Amino acid sequence: MVGSRVQLTKAGREYKACCPFHTEKTASFWVSPEKQFYHCFGCGAHGTALRFLMDYDHMAFPEAVEELAGRLGMPVPHEGGGGPKPQDASLYELMTRVAEFYASTLLRSERATRYLTQRGLTAEIMQRFGIGYAPDAWNTVLRRFGSGEHDRQALTETGLVIERERGQIRDGDRHYDRFRDRIMFPIRDSRGRVIAFGGRVIDRGEPKYLNSPETALFHKGRELYGLYETRLARSSLKRLLVVEGYMDVVRLHQAGIAYAVATLGTATTPEHLKRIFRLVREVVFAFDGDRAGRGAAWRALQHALPEAREGREIRFLFLPEGHDPDTLVGAEGREAFEKRIDSALPLSEYLVRELSTQCDIIHADGRAHFAESARPLVNKVPEGVYRELLIGRVAEVVGLAPERLRALWEGGLPTRPTAQPPLRPRTAHSAGRGSLVRQAVVRLVQFPATAGSVTDTERSGLDGSTEPGADLLRALLDDLRGRPLKTAGQVLERWAARPGGEHLGRLLDREEVLEDEGAAAVELRAALVKLADLVLERRVDALIAKQAATGLNSDEIQEFQRLMNRKAMR
Ligand code: CTP
Ligand code: MN
Repeated sequence: MVGSRVQLTKAGREYKACCPFHTEKTASFWVSPEKQFYHCFGCGAHGTALRFLMDYDHMAFPEAVEELAGRLGMPVPHEGGGGPKPQDASLYELMTRVAEFYASTLLRSERATRYLTQRGLTAEIMQRFGIGYAPDAWNTVLRRFGSGEHDRQALTETGLVIERERGQIRDGDRHYDRFRDRIMFPIRDSRGRVIAFGGRVIDRGEPKYLNSPETALFHKGRELYGLYETRLARSSLKRLLVVEGYMDVVRLHQAGIAYAVATLGTATTPEHLKRIFRLVREVVFAFDGDRAGRGAAWRALQHALPEAREGREIRFLFLPEGHDPDTLVGAEGREAFEKRIDSALPLSEYLVRELSTQCDIIHADGRAHFAESARPLVNKVPEGVYRELLIGRVAEVVGLAPERLRALWEGGLPTRPTAQPPLRPRTAHSAGRGSLVRQAVVRLVQFPATAGSVTDTERSGLDGSTEPGADLLRALLDDLRGRPLKTAGQVLERWAARPGGEHLGRLLDREEVLEDEGAAAVELRAALVKLADLVLERRVDALIAKQAATGLNSDEIQEFQRLMNRKAMR
């Protein structure tokens, strides 16, 4: 698996290579196929096959498992039973072969290469995105790839070839190529398999873009053009820039903004957003500055609200009129464009600004109208810290205290303090500062009452955790949930003579003290959820290693499927 990403040489029972996680000249990166494990003696990077896919290919956990399990012949259950079936394998292969064919014809078509060069693309970027050209004929692909009935069937299923209704045939063939005389952009899934194409006319013509239809391989509302190329380009991915067009993505990558992706002629769907937030915590949507762009931005905001929460950053970038990202990055270059990205409007600000242009907030009834328009939007945000902040911001504009605004929205009922929200933080990457265990322990000592907000499920997620300090965390948490305390002093006193108690005071000295109990509760529970994920991940790793070594028995296969289902529900 690692071998398909990194050049490995055999060294006894193991393999070595130059480490893909840091720059080096001599090989200090070791891979053990037997243990399904890698280790770099240079930079210390190490982990299982699963970790490698997550860190090197930036796959989210479920995708990484699916990839690995697929290689090892393990069945992975799917949410809602969707996803590709085994017989699709030959369709993927067909798509790849056709993409290679289109890419090779591009090199032979002077007109097509001239067009792309005029649009500022380099040969290197065309190759990186596998851009090609579909010849100007009705049956090139059909003749080359559809010799038998079975092959034609496959071509029709992938949408490469169109089948005429019986009544329409006069002469010759019932089938013909969908894409003719177009620049071809292969659309790849997150594993790099070609699943569809977008085809652009050269110069003028209608329709400007023709896309593959929905097929077994391609669900347009789910895919992001350029995501695979983004993953290949970046060793650390922090944010994604979502744009509208193929050319925008390609041109941005060429300019060095190699974290641009595009939705495929559709609005951003909630499914897109879920995928995005499995990979990064920051997303910036770029829209053309015209009317259509502003409309698209407002729709994107509506879809983004259910995904908004503490710890995620969603921002909106509006480009000057007459520009799209392609032309703008061409005109002003990477640095200036990234400055724009850096100063894009946060979702909350965009929401408030847009509503205030619609309502006259100088006057009281305008502000009431503003509050009414904001209500359904704010209600789309899951309960939690972020929603409270948003309510606070709207309240500020309206000139009411947040409690009064909430009361107004709830029909004038007296307000009750809202219950602590079930916060569900991102799980894909590690905690950053300090270990997760340490983070949880520190917050518990600082604000012992936060133990009361931990649910039974969150607590039981810690069972089986072998992280250093997990025993202390479990004991402390159980103690504080059973016999609550109010202050750090009380905790230190009660724990002074207990095992591990001597660490607690020292931990506190070194940590930044949070002012706010709410924030501490959020951090605590975020750490617990991530720790629970690690327990799952370790077990899945162990099962995958066993499958590679000796195979799994039926109990273990069932356990694997159960774990995957649990993981998919998060
Ligand atoms: N699109 C589409 N079908 C169309 C027009 C557009 O699927 N008939 C999608 C494509 O993904 C396209 C995006 O919407 O890339 C944006 O369309 P547009 O702004 O018209 O094109 P550009 O991306 O600017 O393309 P170009 O720069 O090549 O003109
Ligand atoms: Mn354009």
